[in-house]
Amino acid sequence: MELQKSFDTPKIVKIEKVIDETPTVRSLVFSDEVFSNVLPGQFAMVWIPGINELPMSVMISTEKGKAAFTVRRHGYSSTELYSMKAGDLIGIRGPYGNSFTIRKGKLILVGGGTGLVPLIRLVTFLNQNDDVTLIMGAKTKNEVFFEDLANKLLEKTKHQVIVVTEDGSYGQKGLVTDALEKILDKNTFDAVYTCGPEKMMHKVVQIASSKKIHVEASIERMMKCGIGICGSCCFGEVMACKDGTVFEGQFLLANKEFGHTHRNKAGMLENY
Ligand SMILES: Cc1cc2nc3c(=O)[nH]c(=O)nc-3n(C[C@H](O)[C@H](O)[C@H](O)COP(=O)(O)OP(=O)(O)OC[C@H]3O[C@@H](n4cnc5c(N)ncnc54)[C@H](O)[C@@H]3O)c2cc1C
Ligand code: FES
Repeated sequence: MELQKSFDTPKIVKIEKVIDETPTVRSLVFSDEVFSNVLPGQFAMVWIPGINELPMSVMISTEKGKAAFTVRRHGYSSTELYSMKAGDLIGIRGPYGNSFTIRKGKLILVGGGTGLVPLIRLVTFLNQNDDVTLIMGAKTKNEVFFEDLANKLLEKTKHQVIVVTEDGSYGQKGLVTDALEKILDKNTFDAVYTCGPEKMMHKVVQIASSKKIHVEASIERMMKCGIGICGSCCFGEVMACKDGTVFEGQFLLANKEFGHTHRNKAGMLENY
């Protein structure tokens, strides 16, 4: 797998289609040959003209030569991006960051919310002879998305997609980490991949590591430049944008920040 060469000046692309995934999450589809081929875990810096620039994982599109951003409406900037329409223009630079390593065999992917974006892209890189379990978590039924897409992408592969909701309104009741623990108690796996809220990823990495299973997580930090200059994404001794965003379990568990603290927009350490 080779990293795509990145470009650091924003390239202007037109949003061609807007897909409502849930009442608060939308995918914005655009055409771009480079971004349609990025590796799982890579991200873009997305310029919302007149508003801000935000880091976003690159979502797949089922159409050739296209890619997407799957945006949760949250604060001011993400709400502006979420509210953009087909025909609107955004700037994209990148792709940045490293990638999940592609392993073979029995694999578990554990994701929550828009953390599913790099995991869905990872699914498209897996081998048809693999045995894939995808555990996806949401607070409640109407926040579940990508279940059908995951089943479709994995239809030729031995697989199961397990949906977990905190309130039990759909799928299994509880947390994705409960489902993971149950599965790992009875089965062995070759690798675990995770992306989502950091507390969740911390637990996933602890569980997998205690069973001596290779585990990788893609972490989020405040990102301004995306290319290792500004330092806003520092994560212990490393830069999340340049050295990550994907790190292995042992490295993560040795990093005191993982699962506990992150830096805010002013660079101050805050607890999760
Ligand atoms: C590598 C990476 C990939 C991401 N992928 C996605 C994705 O696929 N979909 C998605 O909806 N969101 C994604 N995010 C989160 C996204 O960049 C924003 O953090 C989020 O949309 C909130 O932004 P806001 O300005 O609306 O919120 P605000 O209300 O301004 O801030 C709320 C919180 O969002 C975080 N945040 C704000 N600005 C940034 C920034 N420049 N860099 C990192 N965190 C920030 C901070 O924790 C902040 O406290 C990703 C973040 C990173 C680092
Ligand atoms: S975002 Fe600037 S160094 Fe990583």
